[in-house]
Order: sequence, then structure tokens, then C-alpha cells
Amino acid sequence: MSQLISSMAKGLTGKVQVPGDKSISHRALMLSALAIGRSFVRGLLEGEDVMATAAAMRAMGAHVERSTGGSWTIDGVGVGGLRQPDRPLDMGNSGTTTRLLTGLIASHPISVDLNGDASLSKRPMGRVIEPLSVVGARIKARDDRFLPLTIKGSDMPMPIDYTPPVASAQVKSAILLAGLNTPGNTIVRESVATRDHSERMLMAMGADVETIEDGDGGRIIKLRGEPALKPIDMDVPGDISSAAFLLVAATIIPGSDITITGVGMNPLRIGIISALKCMGADITVLNKRDVGGEPAADLRVKAARLKAVSDIGTDPSTMIDEFPVLFVAAAMATGTSRFTGLRELRVKESDRLSAMAAALSANGVELHELDDGMEITGSGGKHLPGGGRVAAQLDHRIAMASTVLGMVTETPVIIDDGSPIGTSFPGYVELMNSIGGALM
Ligand code: S3P
Repeated sequence: MSQLISSMAKGLTGKVQVPGDKSISHRALMLSALAIGRSFVRGLLEGEDVMATAAAMRAMGAHVERSTGGSWTIDGVGVGGLRQPDRPLDMGNSGTTTRLLTGLIASHPISVDLNGDASLSKRPMGRVIEPLSVVGARIKARDDRFLPLTIKGSDMPMPIDYTPPVASAQVKSAILLAGLNTPGNTIVRESVATRDHSERMLMAMGADVETIEDGDGGRIIKLRGEPALKPIDMDVPGDISSAAFLLVAATIIPGSDITITGVGMNPLRIGIISALKCMGADITVLNKRDVGGEPAADLRVKAARLKAVSDIGTDPSTMIDEFPVLFVAAAMATGTSRFTGLRELRVKESDRLSAMAAALSANGVELHELDDGMEITGSGGKHLPGGGRVAAQLDHRIAMASTVLGMVTETPVIIDDGSPIGTSFPGYVELMNSIGGALM
């Protein structure tokens, strides 16, 4: 445990870059490990979650190395070439590593044990076990749905046509990854479109992937199995989910004016920008460009007075990881915001509805926790009381959202453990302090 104290900040100013996108970094390692030849990836997120993926791909035969300049080279084993690891694989805190790898392993004739930390061991794995069992994998799990898992992949995998019951890019990607070493067409039908980094990267690597919009916000994704994947040479854009903490902090701390460079702007990830704009935030999108096959831009954010919202103007899946910090924004707005349809937040690295309800109310915010969301009455821009202690619950986003809260409180906010921040945002404290934050 390493305690973190966040005190009132006077205004954030400067130009910063956030670490590489976590979702894209995981996929870059996994897919380049299946390519034929050597891939080069620059700007990879070197957080603990992605390092768990790197270690797992090494254990299954890929050569994954960081050069002194910070770029990564990956020598792939080819689709179908993953080998039996000689020990259980440690997934750490990473749900993405666990679910996507379960998919990859499902269509390889190997048997793999996956373990994780206390947070990950509480998260539901039934959502991947069920479809991957139809592919042909035999998966044993504690109580049929929790880590540790033992996955015996199939030597005769079947292509499936699957409609996930929850909107989840991890479930979709797990099925598509299983479909790589499976003959025929694997099909995923999503009723709500989720982040499409897997589809984009697979297409860039030469796989036959077709996406059809269903006209109702959903998508059908069809992957032809057994492609020969070309290696990649790419830059990973900055993570919008990490930038979100800076977007909210600069919006609610009077006098702020910051620019975040090179942020990924995938249309299925930028809900936080729409939501904050609905509340009155001053965010300008500059220098739009393409980074690593994904749209990217610089974001200039100035302090603004916020008003409460009930309709964030976007589907929750486009900002699923950003709600903890959006709740902090709502705590500083004028009026009562109401957020609903967020039951998925209860099965993230922590139960993020109850964790944020506890964090905010311990620091003087008026709120009402709902079954599937939260009602938050904002201070109208006045500093909040603060002085509360927050339990981070092994959840990086709860820890970071609470530091943003502490920047607008009269008395500092104490976070019991800041170490989970290293899963997604190494250097967070130093970066915040370099632009005017007061974290210790
Ligand atoms: C992710 C998808 C989301 C998100 C997670 C990363 C991904 O999870 O919360 O942080 O990389 O595919 P779900 O698929 O469970 O919604």
C-alpha cells in the first residue's frame, strides 16, 4: 500500500502527453505475436497490465523485447503457433489480458492456467467461458466463472456466430481472437458498437474482417479464419481514458489551460468529450491526424463552469472507464446530475458505483447511489469539503478520480493506496504535479 494525498490545486497549465492507449497496446502485443515476421511498436503503454500481456506472449513462444530507445520489437509465431507455457500465467489486475488471452488459447491445442490478483479474481469470466466453450475449449473456473482458470484449447475449433448479452469489447475481441486459428467465418453481433481496435488492427495486418452497421447502433463483425498476419510497424496513440483525468481536472480547477497532445480519438472511445461538452466544458480538438491506424488529436482544455446533466449525449460504452472521473465533474456542477444504465460499472476492477459513492460522500458530496447509476448534486463550482479517506480497492481509476477530487477540496483527500495507478498510467503523479497538481 502506498498512500497518496491530493490537495487543492491553483490551476493546471502546460502541455503534456499521456501514456499509450491500454486497449491498443494489449492488442498490438497479442496480434504481432501471431504475425509472421518482426513487428515494431512505439509508444506502447508500459503499465503493469500491458506488461502482463507481454510476459504471457513470451511464455507462449513469441519473442517480445524493449529496445533502449523505448520501442518494442515482437517476433511472431504465426497464427496457430502459440506453444504450451511451462507455468501458470499471471494476469495481475488485467481483465483485458485475461479475457483476450482466453480467446486466443481457446483455439490452440494447449492447456494454460491463468491466475490474477484479488480484484481480478472477483470479476466475471462466464461471459467468455460460455462462447469459447462452444468454440470447443474446455475451461475450468472457480465456481464456473471466476479466476483461477484452466483453459484446454481445442485442436478442432468451431467457428461461432455469437451475440454477446453485454456490450463488451473484451468479449467481442476474445471471440475474434479465437476465430483466428479456426477455419471458416467467426461472427460477432453486437447490439451496441464497442471499441473496434481489434478489428482495425486485424484489417491492417491483412486479415479478412468485415464490419456491417445494423443501422440501430449495433454491428456485425465477420472474420475469416486462418489468415497469415503481416507484422505491424506502428505508434500507439495516447490513451483517452488516461487523458480523461486531465480533461476533468483542468475543467474544474479555476484558471486552468492545458493541452494534451496525441490523444487517440477513436469514435467509439470519445464519449467523455461529448459528456463534458454537454456539461459546458471548454475542450478544443486540434491537429486531427492518424496515429497507428487510429484517429488522434491534441486536446486543449480550459477551466469552465459546469451544469448538471441527465443525458450525456452518448452511449455509456463510448466512455465506460471514464465514469468515475465524470462523477467528480458532476460533483462540481450546478444542479443534480443523474447517470443510469451503468450496471457494468459494478464488475470493473472494483464496484465503481459503490467505490465512487463512498469516495465522494466521504468528502462531502451529496449523492444517491442507484442500482444502475448515481445521482449527484454538484457544488455549483464551489470547493468541496474534502478531508475524507478513499479506499482505492485495487482500482487505478478510483485512485486517480479521487486525486482529481482532492484538487478541488478545502481539506486534502487521502487515498489509501495509489499503487494501482501503475496498471494504466505510470508517471501519473509526476505528470499531474508538473502542470500544477499537488499530489504526494
Ligand atoms: C476494454 C474494454 C472495456 C474496458 C476495458 C478495456 C478493451 O471492458 O472497460 O478497460 O480493451 O477491450 P468491457 O469489454 O468489459 O466493457
